Amino acid sequence: MAQFKLPANSVIGKGKTYYAGAGAKNVKRFQIYRWDPDSGENPRMDTYEVDMATCGPMVLDALLKIKNEMDPTLTLRRSCREGVCGSCAMNIDGTNTLACTKAIGDVSGDVKVYPLPHMPVIKDLVPDLTHFYAQYASIKPWLQSITPPPERERLQSKEDRAKLDGLYECILCACCSTSCPSYWWNGDRYLGPSILLQAYRWIVDSRDEFTGERLDGLEDPFRLYRCHTIMNCTKTCPKGLNPAKAIAEIKKLMVERR
Ligand code: SF4
Ligand code: SF4
Ligand code: FES
Repeated sequence: MAQFKLPANSVIGKGKTYYAGAGAKNVKRFQIYRWDPDSGENPRMDTYEVDMATCGPMVLDALLKIKNEMDPTLTLRRSCREGVCGSCAMNIDGTNTLACTKAIGDVSGDVKVYPLPHMPVIKDLVPDLTHFYAQYASIKPWLQSITPPPERERLQSKEDRAKLDGLYECILCACCSTSCPSYWWNGDRYLGPSILLQAYRWIVDSRDEFTGERLDGLEDPFRLYRCHTIMNCTKTCPKGLNPAKAIAEIKKLMVERR
């Protein structure tokens, strides 16, 4: 029988509140999803009052300030703090985005922070991306060629190189895939927008000689065709890319080669 309620151990409870010091004049409240698998307790939302006078402008600045000064148990991923590594992807103010490039000033009211949706959670804001990376590996994201390598680099015309624009910039943050309803429902078999954009990046690379095999690998009712052009992916991409267009281009190539 279909179950329409969350299992009891998934219900989010009310957590603790950490208050800003008495001298704080410009306080912003952050409500943050917390879950510790070792505690045996349900997830909860903790609230932190942050004094913006001593905090940087981005959500990541606040999260690190909270971790460093208020609650060292808060767990999150981050590395580059400039929108390059993709590791600080999370759901902020209802949208999947990068904590390091999301300005606190763009959020009115309390800043609500959750892990990326519909992924297993390892702890707090850290999702388990094992399956996502396995899907990435499955599309063989490297140049494949039978022509022996030349003495120097493999050349490409300016026009062919331009075909990679809007694709090579993808940082594999998974914001798009975890905003895609088709991926929520069929993520075990549907590759999702991020991996399909990466697949297309190699399909259109003029130096790659395995285009046919790459398309064969995607010719499947689930891996590619679960995309129903809902467009959440393109709307949410923090790098301004268009995974839905890349998916449409792959579908077009499938039709053209029939
Ligand atoms: S366009 Fe396709 S991949 Fe993008 S959100 Fe919609 S169903 Fe998912
Ligand atoms: S397409 Fe955009 S949202 Fe999707 S993984 Fe790449 S950078 Fe992230
Ligand atoms: S810390 Fe690298 S993208 Fe945010």
